[in-house]
Amino acid sequence: MNYADPRWPNVFIITHPVVQERLTVARDKGTPVEQFRRLVGHIARLMAFEITRDYPSIPCEVLTPMGPCVGSKLARELTLVPILRAGLGMAEGIHELLPAARMAHLGIYRNEETLQPVVYYHKLPAGISKTDVIIIDPMLATGGSVNTAIDFIKKTGATNIKMLCLLAAPEGINAMNAKHPNIPIYTAAVDQGLNEKGYIVPGLGDAGDRLLERGDNTAVSSRSSGKRADAKISAAGDAMNDIPCRLA
Ligand code: PRP
Ligand code: URA
Repeated sequence: MNYADPRWPNVFIITHPVVQERLTVARDKGTPVEQFRRLVGHIARLMAFEITRDYPSIPCEVLTPMGPCVGSKLARELTLVPILRAGLGMAEGIHELLPAARMAHLGIYRNEETLQPVVYYHKLPAGISKTDVIIIDPMLATGGSVNTAIDFIKKTGATNIKMLCLLAAPEGINAMNAKHPNIPIYTAAVDQGLNEKGYIVPGLGDAGDRLLERGDNTAVSSRSSGKRADAKISAAGDAMNDIPCRLA
């Protein structure tokens, strides 16, 4: 069951009890990295199941061992666009549910001091403009990363865009609605807000770190993790923000 938040008509909260129970375990700082990774993939798959519930389908014929049968297939093509890195943890789970979907990649990280998004990689499949697009990222915090992703996707001509996240902050929803109004946002929860470091509270910590690094949330309390210490990568990423979008 989905719940439309009265504050934002385009925000849909997936209230399914299994999603909520798994999200609670994912939030727990004691959840080990392997379990966290599995949970994120699993929650994402359940959420994708919910948001494709009303997806149009068309009849198609299949031959069973007993004879012909009229079945159905999804009527529209889909492109999944995970925002690297953390979006990958969700995208793999969703791809299992929707194996025919194309997969695009956008590498974006937040500058730790300014919280501004930096694009360091983009590969969008040809033909994306004719497909429905789901942007995937566990965290919608300030909204900078997703707004940059939407800028890229809109440049391809794609118009049917959805955002899927595990957690959203009101600040991020407002920023997204201000820049790209009317894009549906599907989330498992809308949290209280951001702390002074731009983290969602109560949130689940640093999603990328919990999926791919120590899994111990050190970065949330101290930004001296060295995660973004490579000045060359940062400089290249800053320059890439100005690169026009090219299709792969
Ligand atoms: C996290 C998260 C989002 C972004 C959200 O990525 O996965 O992409 O922050 O924050 P925003 O709404 O304020 O832009 P991060 O920058 O930590 O990169 P990572 O996924 O590579 O760890
Ligand atoms: N990015 C994360 O990984 N976590 C947050 O709480 C905010 C942004």
